[in-house]
Amino acid sequence: MNLLNIISSCQLLPLATLTSKEQVEPLCKALIKAGLPLIEITLRDERTINILDEFKKYPQIAFGVGTIRTTHQIDKAIEADAKFLITPGFSKKLSHYASSKNILLIPGVQTPSEIIAANEEGHNVLKFFPAELGGGVNKLKSYLSVFSDIKFIPTGGISEENAPNYLKLDNVIAVGASALIPSKLIETESWNEIEDLLTQSKANYLQS
Ligand code: 3PG
Repeated sequence: MNLLNIISSCQLLPLATLTSKEQVEPLCKALIKAGLPLIEITLRDERTINILDEFKKYPQIAFGVGTIRTTHQIDKAIEADAKFLITPGFSKKLSHYASSKNILLIPGVQTPSEIIAANEEGHNVLKFFPAELGGGVNKLKSYLSVFSDIKFIPTGGISEENAPNYLKLDNVIAVGASALIPSKLIETESWNEIEDLLTQSKANYLQS
């Protein structure tokens, strides 16, 4: 299965910010046990870039790196065998660089102009960010007919309450959410709770 198929079959893209190597193993085990072997590690903390390599031990996890803003971060993600990259906005430079390195990049967009610019560079799966602040479900509905060939992964403010409304849209393949792996539970090393929450979320986020 290719990466986009994995993301669209999971429908949930959990986001996490890790700050130490020791967090990688229990997190990966929780993801596997919960049957959601997919993760976007965000680069919101400067320590995270140095722990990416640890994911090499878990090739069964579809591991991506988000919050990418530089080519250096792309290099580090590739060195760690990341399977995909996510940028919060659209950058032609980052798009070209990722494509020259043969790695999937999913750029963030909000406006029609950004969608057109990203699509011109060959992207037809885009992160819609920040989803809730940027117009939410209604905005994506209005993109359905105008950009009928574009699929979105709404991220930013996604919760158990609003996720089902996004996932009902034909142009949404998955939602991304840090709420699936709350940073409080990472800090307190509550790995069993994370596993339970991920398992429970598969039912709660995907309900119709
Ligand atoms: C991101 O890093 O992509 C977003 O900030 C995630 O938004 P959330 O924390 O509201 O899920």
